[in-house]
Amino acid sequence: MAVSVVLCLLAFGLVITAHASTPELGLNKTCIDEPEVTLQVGLYDESCPTAELIVSSWVQKAVEEDPRMAASLLRLHFHDCFVNGCDGSVLLEDTADFVGEKTAPPNLNSLRGFEVIDDIKAQLELVCPQTVSCADILAIAARDSVALSSGPRWEVPVGRKDSLFASYETAASHLPSPASNVTALVGAFQDVGLTLADLVALSGAHTIGKAKCSSFSSRLSIGTGSLRGDPEFLQSLLMLCYPSTSISTAMADLDLKTPTAFDNQYYINLLRGEGLLVSDEMLVENEVTQAIVELYAANCDIFLQDFAKSMVRMGSLAKRQEGEVRVNCRFINYNNIIH
Ligand code: HEM
Repeated sequence: MAVSVVLCLLAFGLVITAHASTPELGLNKTCIDEPEVTLQVGLYDESCPTAELIVSSWVQKAVEEDPRMAASLLRLHFHDCFVNGCDGSVLLEDTADFVGEKTAPPNLNSLRGFEVIDDIKAQLELVCPQTVSCADILAIAARDSVALSSGPRWEVPVGRKDSLFASYETAASHLPSPASNVTALVGAFQDVGLTLADLVALSGAHTIGKAKCSSFSSRLSIGTGSLRGDPEFLQSLLMLCYPSTSISTAMADLDLKTPTAFDNQYYINLLRGEGLLVSDEMLVENEVTQAIVELYAANCDIFLQDFAKSMVRMGSLAKRQEGEVRVNCRFINYNNIIH
């Protein structure tokens, strides 16, 4: 008991220090260029006063029709921001000039929610044409998805521009693998300008949503890996994923106890050896990340606050580049296409 109190205090100190020492907006200046545009809360107050309301109502409708959509929209924003910053590049279809991000291995047959973003964009174009970027829609929709799942609500700074290109290669190389260890995970976060503290807080997004058996099959190599894990939990995953000799296309909840609630159950699961992905379970295989996991498992409020702060930092990742406000999130505007 005393040890865990000490660990919690230590971890609390770590989180505070990590958050306090990260440069403003979480940008690591050796890795990320200054953003071209300054993000600002309330930027659409005059140009499109109903923008947030429109996004919220469409997200709510989509989640009512398909509760998993909250998780899928949250992940879409993450996969956008980790590839050349939050610029809506993940939404672009392939063109003659580039192969987009949708078919990169971390995204293919996995990312969902594109139609929801299309619907929101179409509605916004009717009300305030070419005003609200697709990248901002992703950021607001991610916030609303978390809030709708009983998670925290935060103010979303807006003003992102949509990119004129997308990169299959960067998506394939910059999005962390679910088989990663902590060194690789921290490296992937630092590459984009985020910290170890952001990694542990943002991994808490896995308190909602699902993963395919193929995403965690290496978690099931009992006896061959050094991973600890609850034997009953692993057995239930084996039964789900290997009803016969070949792997099934089934999906498992990332948080087996409260799969649709945005709470700190994910961290409690990790301490019990019930993290679904290898990358989840690895957070308790390293003493620094484990101390933060213990803190979040013990104190939900601290987790929710840190998650919201880290989401704002992730949502502020940007690259200096030309941008626009796309009319259709899947395509660059006609006047910006190189003919
Ligand atoms: C730390 C590194 C991370 C890794 C390795 C990782 C990996 C994965 C994988 C493999 C899946 C399942 C995909 C599938 O089977 O189709 C998944 C799902 C998900 N991830 Fe992550 N993820 C990470 C961080 C994050 C972050 C930072 C967020 C958001 C802030 C996030 C949000 C989600 C959500 C909500 C789902 C469920 C999506 C759904 O049900 O459609 N993940 N992640």
